[in-house]
Amino acid sequence: MNIQWYPGHMTKAKRAMKEDIKLIDLIIELVDARVPLGSRNPDIDELGAGKARMVLLNKSDLADEKINEQWVGYFAEQGCQVVKVNCKTGAGLKQIGAAVQEACKEKIERDRRRGIQNRPIRAMVVGIPNVGKSTFINAFAKKACTKTGNKPGVTKGNQWIRLNKTLELLDTPGILWPKFEDQQVGLHLAFIGSINDEILNKEELALELIQVLSQRYPGALKERYQIEELATALTVQESLLILKEIARVRACLLKGGELDTSKAAAILLEDFRSGRLGRITLEQPCAKVNELPKEERG
Ligand code: G4P
Repeated sequence: MNIQWYPGHMTKAKRAMKEDIKLIDLIIELVDARVPLGSRNPDIDELGAGKARMVLLNKSDLADEKINEQWVGYFAEQGCQVVKVNCKTGAGLKQIGAAVQEACKEKIERDRRRGIQNRPIRAMVVGIPNVGKSTFINAFAKKACTKTGNKPGVTKGNQWIRLNKTLELLDTPGILWPKFEDQQVGLHLAFIGSINDEILNKEELALELIQVLSQRYPGALKERYQIEELATALTVQESLLILKEIARVRACLLKGGELDTSKAAAILLEDFRSGRLGRITLEQPCAKVNELPKEERG
């Protein structure tokens, strides 16, 4: 399966984001805890040059908890403020205030030296589609939200949400597009729903997902659908047999009684995306090179 992704409106959105970024002190970047590196867009480093940065590991409830902790360690080691969150329930949001202060301490200190006190930090939320930006803004703002309306100097149409005396959020998130050269990353992004399903063949995608799951999380399909998983390194034909089994146990049938593998594929993808297959992480931080067995070192 070859995934290509060329959204036409990307240049325009990037230009708009460039303007917005001039207005802020801090970039809050949301990533999907199931694919933390693949769900970043490298453009943000250039767009956000000179701004304070922090990373929110969102949808952590859908990801493997042990690996979540590894990712927190990974980002912290890069010198990044990182908070593990679940924007749907609000878990982790309370820790953000302190992380914001830490991420912006140089700005706060600069202000203090200039005699400016209590100037709120202005932040912008960015991330690729479906990573949870709107959910985050709503959940975070609900805590202490009063819309302050347009402020002088602010691009028309944009609004600031004053969260408290120390933090204001731009209420329109910056949308970045997934960027990948590696097809495996493309697949991961398609699995989590960050690439428009309309350009994808769901059945092929489901077959790929079955292969990945049987390798990384053997037993997950068996537990969900009460089916035999065959092996851990599946061929495409074997994956198709599994998809047919899912169609059979879920009674996905076409008019003539034939198995409806397209419907089974949609069920499987939805089950994965909503966490009904369990907490699954598709990317793990790289082990340090000299911790790898000799034969795996580059
Ligand atoms: P976006 O603005 O970045 O495009 O993403 P958005 O907030 O629209 O969120 C995309 C989907 O992800 C939504 O589900 C949202 O509920 C879900 N979501 C966001 N954060 C979390 C999280 O931390 N954990 C989990 N489990 N889900 C999260 P949806 O299916 O589009 O809508 P709905 O199911 O909420 O109705």
